[in-house]
Amino acid sequence: MRRSFVVPLCVAAAVAAASLAPAAAQMMGGPYGGGRAATTVALPGNAAHGRQLATTCAACHGADGNSTDPQYPKLAGQKLGYLYAQLLGFKVKARPSPVMQPMAAMLSDQDIADLARFYSAQPVKPDPVKDAALAETGKRLFINASGRGAPPCAMCHSPAAASSPMMGMMGVNPADVPDLYGQHAAYLVDQMNKYASGARPDGVMNQIAAGVSEADRKALAEYLAGVR
Ligand code: HEC
Ligand code: HEC
Repeated sequence: MRRSFVVPLCVAAAVAAASLAPAAAQMMGGPYGGGRAATTVALPGNAAHGRQLATTCAACHGADGNSTDPQYPKLAGQKLGYLYAQLLGFKVKARPSPVMQPMAAMLSDQDIADLARFYSAQPVKPDPVKDAALAETGKRLFINASGRGAPPCAMCHSPAAASSPMMGMMGVNPADVPDLYGQHAAYLVDQMNKYASGARPDGVMNQIAAGVSEADRKALAEYLAGVR
């Protein structure tokens, strides 16, 4: 039997959420809340229907969500709630992308849930490490220090983080935090650059990415792409 549960998708930084007017609840743009759309849906979706829909996405993201071109993110194994929130973010134009916004505009919220369900169930295939020394530096940064005053990445992005009370204290819902392991390095660097410049708005990541040097972004990405 399908279990339905409601996923709150508008978990921006707690401070920010408190100051948001109710009118802004439909789409949380602006300096806080960023690319995450606020809505609720019955999840999990239908993976079989998601697989059918995914044929339209395969040219870029790969048939099973393991894209071969590193400019396109891998979707395989990504968290259900995160995939859902991002697709909805593209649909309501809260997350910018000239490519993805029109794609998402054609999908119903149920289609989005079904696609998220399909991709989240596919195993991710990590990339081979090209530069072991750089990856080692990246690992240190990921676990210990991320930048000026920012919390370590692992505090939110490691599997252990999902059970950490620290995340709740920072106003972050574990379901909204993407899994970065095995993702293409080129895509990770591109997204950190977009967060740092504000081109991808997010109440949590904009400040964190801006505090990480370009060299450190590359090291972090090199490490993450190869983690199994
Ligand atoms: C023409 C190529 C193309 C097609 C087709 C395409 N995408 Fe994308 N997708 C992209 C690009 C490029 C990005 C990165 C956007 C950015 O710059 O933030 C992306 C990002 C995403 C993300 C965000 C991933 C993350 O880690 O944040 C999701 C989810 C996604 N696409 C799902 C889909 C689905 C579902 C379909 C089919 C309905 C689809 N895409 C079709 C190119 C494509
Ligand atoms: C306080 C918790 C927190 C910390 C610490 C954190 N992140 Fe994030 N990160 C998030 C959340 C939440 C998102 C999703 C934001 C959104 O919806 O755009 C995210 C998204 C990302 C993405 C986008 C992934 C994708 O698939 O598009 C990257 C890359 C990323 N973070 C890298 C990092 C790195 C590198 C660090 C350390 C320097 C870090 N994060 C530290 C919470 C955190």
